[in-house]
Amino acid sequence: MSAHADPIPMTARASAPLRGVAEVPGDKSISHRALILGAMAVGQTHVTGLLEGQDVLDTAKAMRAFGATVTRLGQGEWTVQGVGVGGFAEPADVIDCGNSGTGVRLIMGAMATSAISTTFTGDASLRKRPMGRVTQPLSLFGTQSYGRQGGRLPMTVIGAADPVPVRYTVPVPSAQVKSAVLLAGLNAPGETVVIEKEATRDHSERMLAGFGAAIHVETAAEGRIITLTGQPELRPQTVAVPRDPSSAAFPVCAALIVPGSDILVPGVSRNPTRDGLFVTLLEMGADITYENPREEGGEPVADLRVRFSGDLTGVETPEDRAASMIDEFPILSVVAACASGITTMRGVKELRVKESDRIDAMARGLEACGVRIEEDEDTLVVHGMGQGNVPGGATCATHLDHRIAMSFLVLGLASKAPVSIDDGAPIATSFPVFEPLMKQLGASIERTHG
Ligand code: S3P
Repeated sequence: MSAHADPIPMTARASAPLRGVAEVPGDKSISHRALILGAMAVGQTHVTGLLEGQDVLDTAKAMRAFGATVTRLGQGEWTVQGVGVGGFAEPADVIDCGNSGTGVRLIMGAMATSAISTTFTGDASLRKRPMGRVTQPLSLFGTQSYGRQGGRLPMTVIGAADPVPVRYTVPVPSAQVKSAVLLAGLNAPGETVVIEKEATRDHSERMLAGFGAAIHVETAAEGRIITLTGQPELRPQTVAVPRDPSSAAFPVCAALIVPGSDILVPGVSRNPTRDGLFVTLLEMGADITYENPREEGGEPVADLRVRFSGDLTGVETPEDRAASMIDEFPILSVVAACASGITTMRGVKELRVKESDRIDAMARGLEACGVRIEEDEDTLVVHGMGQGNVPGGATCATHLDHRIAMSFLVLGLASKAPVSIDDGAPIATSFPVFEPLMKQLGASIERTHG
């Protein structure tokens, strides 16, 4: 979406203590999947707590283009009248997934085994990202695709008219690739098997089971083996989307580094495949407690009580934790800058193919703010300066990346001089209420012009 939106320069400055309740929006991953699986079920799925960020709105629009009836009833409350597995109509126009890698990759999977063709595109960020990681396994079903050099969008995908089931080992830890193959497997006869060496977020597996698909997961020496029986009739569901831990990360980390803060973040998903940041923050000495643990919408959730933690220390995050916190490394690197000692993040090369090259974006912005950084292809090292010692005073480039934008604004709340970003518009893709929510807690964030 940001390709069309005017840039919104923003500035954050040292803030009064953050206080109050931070009700963050619904989980982005689960929201995309609820709309897509709702569109593939027979009958009406009812969703509450849907994230109404631009990424998810683009997926809703796409599902309409494939023939589903998607209706907004009220704040976060939506219905999807599905067309059934194999029931997608051929879209009359190009599908624009905006900024969303999850949207485009999952939708490619969902249409790949129907006898229809679809041309996909996205914004300037998405058009740089690799799609071959999805179209390669989809070709095993018999799907064809024609994109730009390097498997980039725009790309036309020609669905397989007579798909065959596949057995595929995902070569990089990627829930998007895993999910694309599983969604394609829905309309292939027989058993589709996906093997992942490292566990990635498991929302697709959970939700496919909830919609009535025969799906079986076992853990073996080669990794997690997921077996899906094709051509089920998916039953419509009521999906209560829990709040997004990746969005919760921003107020949580802000409260940890702004002196005197004490906030509550209710109803956050504690799915273990998404929990790596919180595990890491606790290791660093963060004052976070989990209150009222419970289950909502098939996911474990809890209320997070977070208090300012002035003596955080650097840690090393192991390679095998990276997948469970893949979207949280930018904000972790901000906390690491405010901690004492060195934080070493290992196994993070996937960050280079996100909405931006997040290792490069964070390294350059933190350096501009006076923080010492070391990096290689797969590692990011932040030399912590200790509470209250980060100089700040720079304008950081956000490269159409919502998480880079929010991370540098959080840094500005705890650095000596204000931190600015060139463009906060992409924040609307995942956390449209970030600015009012942070201000309500007491954060000093403003739009620099207009
Ligand atoms: C997502 C998977 C992750 C993550 C993205 C959402 C998903 O990407 O970075 O924000 O919903 O499946 P990869 O699967 O490419 O690692």
